[in-house]
Amino acid sequence: MSDSKTVRITLTDSGQDLNFDSGCPSLLACLEHNKLTVSYQCREGYCGACRVKLTKGSIIYNQEPLAFVREGEVLLCCCKPDGDVSITLD
Ligand code: FES
Repeated sequence: MSDSKTVRITLTDSGQDLNFDSGCPSLLACLEHNKLTVSYQCREGYCGACRVKLTKGSIIYNQEPLAFVREGEVLLCCCKPDGDVSITLD
């Protein structure tokens, strides 16, 4: 038994549920770890290539990204989930 609460990532497009490993540096790294193909370029919050829709929950940026992010969008490369989240990759 573990005290740590499991953080779930739900992919709304496929209905797939993943666990976020607390050792993962970012949501992008976690998705890659689960063999999902995700768009990215800089991996540092500059380009916006990893932008996806956050449909439920909230995230915390590792450092404030420079790329433009609209309301309801997140940059996978530089954030971690703050509790369970749902995202749409499309
Ligand atoms: S890969 Fe460039 S902002 Fe995420």
